[in-house]
Amino acid sequence: MTAIRRGGERDFEEIAAIQTASPEAAQWKVADYAGFDLWVAVCENRVAGFLAARSLGDGECELLNLAVGLEFRRRGIARHLVGALAEACCGNIFLEVRGSNLIARNLYKSMGFKEIGIRPGYYDLSPEAAIVMKFHSC
Ligand SMILES: CC(C)(COP(=O)(O)OP(=O)(O)OC[C@H]1O[C@@H](n2cnc3c(N)ncnc32)[C@H](O)[C@@H]1OP(=O)(O)O)[C@@H](O)C(=O)NCCC(=O)NCCS
Repeated sequence: MTAIRRGGERDFEEIAAIQTASPEAAQWKVADYAGFDLWVAVCENRVAGFLAARSLGDGECELLNLAVGLEFRRRGIARHLVGALAEACCGNIFLEVRGSNLIARNLYKSMGFKEIGIRPGYYDLSPEAAIVMKFHSC
């Protein structure tokens, strides 16, 4: 059973461990999540995954980061987290994802996100382009 709740400082240690084990995710300093909207998925009394987002105003949001712990993957947890964002953010949700991250692109496409553009040179220290995706949540 997975519960989704707002995340906070008490979750930072577990979020850091998930992030470190997920090199495809953006590697934030976890304290920086304090300034953004944070959701965590709790499973077996542990933080199993997290999602960070921010409001862009005018009913638009940006999904900033998402990762699920290795042992909790493929159980629908990311789908729950993105669903929580879609409920909270009524409007357009944007995100950038590495072109090579086919698993994440599959996840977002399966939830109705459309690929709307490419940002070359988006990532520091990598020549890889970002794919821009958009979802209209309501
Ligand atoms: C991407 C990620 C968040 C998915 O988390 P998850 O909880 O395992 O995903 P879910 O179980 O909710 O899967 C939802 C859908 O995503 C796709 N998906 C998930 N894992 C997949 C895999 N290994 N291969 C192919 N498609 C996959 C499928 O479409 C899946 O639906 P299905 O199970 O009905 O086929 C997870 O793999 C992860 O943390 N990856 C590293 C970090 C990352 O890439 N973050 C994205 C940054 S933009």
